[in-house]
Amino acid sequence: MPSPLILVNLKTYKEGTGNRAHQIATAAQLVARESGVTIGIAPGYIDLHPLCHHFAIPVYAQHVDGYEPGAHTGHITADALKAAGAAGSLINHSERRLTLAEIESSVRALQTHKLTAVICSNNEVTSAGAAALGPEYVAIEPPELIGSGVSVSKANPEIIKRSVAAVHAVNPKVRVLTGAGIQSGECVKIAMDLGTDGVLLASSVVKATDPATVLRDLISKL
Ligand code: G3P
Repeated sequence: MPSPLILVNLKTYKEGTGNRAHQIATAAQLVARESGVTIGIAPGYIDLHPLCHHFAIPVYAQHVDGYEPGAHTGHITADALKAAGAAGSLINHSERRLTLAEIESSVRALQTHKLTAVICSNNEVTSAGAAALGPEYVAIEPPELIGSGVSVSKANPEIIKRSVAAVHAVNPKVRVLTGAGIQSGECVKIAMDLGTDGVLLASSVVKATDPATVLRDLISKL
């Protein structure tokens, strides 16, 4: 059974950009090595290549376009992510929604390059739809709880349970993450007990004065 994944999305937070992205990656690598838990980060594009170069943790993009290399100005290809050393990409994050056709082409582009696809969803119905596209992960995040400081694990455990069931009914090989307001070891434990394979989170780590302390707490009950 693969290790749980703790995936930290740095979004475009000022506290997650440039030197600060390196500090968070340093903390993530330290805690991953101490614990053996897989901790990945999803920085902005500008920071992606340097982080891949300097750290041994999995680095994910926050978005990818399903284009082949060529005349596509202002897009990011899976080919470019592979060349930069990325492990995979988020797709269809709540703050970067895509059409169904775009989601499908992004998944295929990642898989062509043997990169991990994490499709984000907002409820159990879209989670089932996402699973039908055969990504490695579906990440269920109720949009109203994102960045709220209120954990999905405590505020809406039912949506996690229903999404895990919906995803596995479509494709039992697809792993499930959950996110929105995740901030403690207890939140992570509840999510795992409900059948997920890890969590996708942002603000509790990115905005922390000491990200390593928060990360140690997050993995403390695994
Ligand atoms: O991608 C993770 C994110 O949407 C959850 O954000 O700040 O609620 O952990 P946050």
